[in-house]
Amino acid sequence: MLPAVLRATRAGIERVVVPAANAAEAALVPGARVEPAEDLAGVLAMLRGAAPAPVREASPRSPGATAAPPGIPVDEAGDLAEVVGQSRGRLAVEVAAAGGHHLYMQGPPGSGKTMLADRLPGLLPDLDRGAALEVTTVHSVAGQLPVEAPLITRPPYRNPHHSATPAALVGSGAAVVRPGLASQAHHGVLFLDEAPEFGRSSLDALRQPMETGTIEIARARVTARFPARFQLVLAANPCPCAKAQGSRSAACECPSLVRRRYLARLSGPLLDRIDIQVALSVPSRAELRADARRCEPTATVAARVARARERAATRWADTPWRCNAQVPGPVLRRDWPLPRGVVAPAERALERGLLTLRGLDRVLRLAWTFADLADRSQPGAEQVGAALDLRLPGWAR
Ligand SMILES: Nc1ncnc2c1ncn2[C@@H]1O[C@H](COP(=O)(O)OP(=O)(O)OP(=O)(O)O)[C@@H](O)[C@H]1O
Ligand SMILES: [Mg+2]
Ligand SMILES: [Zn+2]
Repeated sequence: MLPAVLRATRAGIERVVVPAANAAEAALVPGARVEPAEDLAGVLAMLRGAAPAPVREASPRSPGATAAPPGIPVDEAGDLAEVVGQSRGRLAVEVAAAGGHHLYMQGPPGSGKTMLADRLPGLLPDLDRGAALEVTTVHSVAGQLPVEAPLITRPPYRNPHHSATPAALVGSGAAVVRPGLASQAHHGVLFLDEAPEFGRSSLDALRQPMETGTIEIARARVTARFPARFQLVLAANPCPCAKAQGSRSAACECPSLVRRRYLARLSGPLLDRIDIQVALSVPSRAELRADARRCEPTATVAARVARARERAATRWADTPWRCNAQVPGPVLRRDWPLPRGVVAPAERALERGLLTLRGLDRVLRLAWTFADLADRSQPGAEQVGAALDLRLPGWAR
């Protein structure tokens, strides 16, 4: 209903007659004059000049629709303050939120990867009007708009299980194609927990949306195109055995080849697009005890993120980009050059083969986000250093 009415108003049609059950959803479209009808007799009466029924607040759902909440309500998601110690992990999610960067966290069981990912959506600002309509539209088409059809104003969050098929991720259907989980995470977060466990074809299916922000599904008679500009968060254990599960002392003794093969499942085009790649360790008992009261809550960090995003939005105002993560590396290097001394450490890493050119671009994008968070007009040596630090040590892709 929502996309149909949106399209109608864009085509200059103001008056739309819809089934009464869908009226609340149709009424989300600005500028649409929604006239609900109970049945065809009602439509006929309206055409003869009878007044339409008023739009009812709540509307029963069409068959098959579920009322799954599109995002985690902030009060249920858990607060960032609950993640004690783990300063790298907390920093990583804050920077990811501020710059819209994709995030890869690697660490042993119990290092808080899932906890941190769950708390990322809460750090993101509310959706603006345009984004809210897009997200609500996707959920309308997916049959996932809650009963009262409210405008979705919070970034959605999807965390599919690793058994999710490519069809579940990108969308499926024969006569009617429905958007998949990647589209349902549009303008929000798509979290792949235990990422190496996902099938190769499922991971590959994410490459198109990561490049273009859209998903195209071709069928015999129709091609459906859905938006899918999500923030990807990947979490992985360093080894498939996950032996340390539940016990911190039992270290993994698997051969390094086993471990390398496991993580290699993520390699290539997917990881190439992920700006933040951090290794986390399990916090020590002392860390867990000591920091508990000094940890910043979600509200404090979210406020900092919002300011940083505003700063970035102002800088990119005349460009196609909205946040630092979207800016292509060559553009950043050419149009926003930094003083030699500032980028020197990153360039040295490049010369020594610790960083690829792509990696250098990632570091620059992150440095700009650190500058936005520090309320600086451009990154200094400190921000470049901090950016270099948000990478797996020795990561030389
Ligand atoms: N930094 C932390 N502060 C507070 N509690 C923590 C922290 N890290 C882990 N925990 C505790 O350990 C539990 C496991 O954390 P979490 O599920 O996020 O770890 P994980 O890295 O995702 O582990 P796995 O690899 O087993 O999925 C949490 O429910 C929480 O109780
Ligand atoms: Mg986990
Ligand atoms: Zn192992």
